[in-house]
Amino acid sequence: MAEDLHIPYGASKEEIYKALYPQLQALIEGEPDLIANMANIASVLKEAFHFFWVGFYRVSGEQLVLGPFQGPPACTRINYGKGVCGTAWKEERTLIVPDVDKFPGHIACSSLSRSEIVVPVRHRGAVTAVLDVDSDRLDHFDETDAFYLGGIIELFR
Ligand code: SME
Repeated sequence: MAEDLHIPYGASKEEIYKALYPQLQALIEGEPDLIANMANIASVLKEAFHFFWVGFYRVSGEQLVLGPFQGPPACTRINYGKGVCGTAWKEERTLIVPDVDKFPGHIACSSLSRSEIVVPVRHRGAVTAVLDVDSDRLDHFDETDAFYLGGIIELFR
C-alpha cells in the first residue's frame, strides 16, 4: 500500500482509531517481519495522536528489551514484574496508569511522562512483548485506548 496516512484530525479518538485500523491492516498484512510491523505501528500511533512516546518492549529471557519506538530515548531493559511494563507482562493484562507518580515502582524513562498505558502482546498464549504508550498529560488513556490498541496488536497474528 501507499505509505500515506489518512488521519481525520479533529475527530474523536475513537474515530481516529477506526480510521487507522484498516490502514495498519494494509501495512501489516503480508509482512511477516515483526520488527518492521512494530516499527510501523509505533510510527502510525505517534503520527496520529502525537503521543509523547510509543513503542514496544520485547520479552527476552527474564527481561523486556527495548524494541521499535517513536519518541525520546528510553530505558533499554526492564525486569519481569518491574515498572508498568514489567507488571503488565507479569499480570498478563492491560494496565492504564492515569498518574505515573502514583504507580509504585513506575520506571521514569522521562520526567515528562505523566500517564501511561501498557498492552501485552501475546503469541500462542504467552506474552512476547508489550506495547507501551506514554503521554505528557495526566489521565490521557481510558478503556477506548485499551480496546483499540488491543485490536491493533492483534494484527500481529
Ligand atoms: N514507564 C515504563 C518504562 C518504559 S518508558 O515509559 C518508555 C514502566 O514503568 O515500565
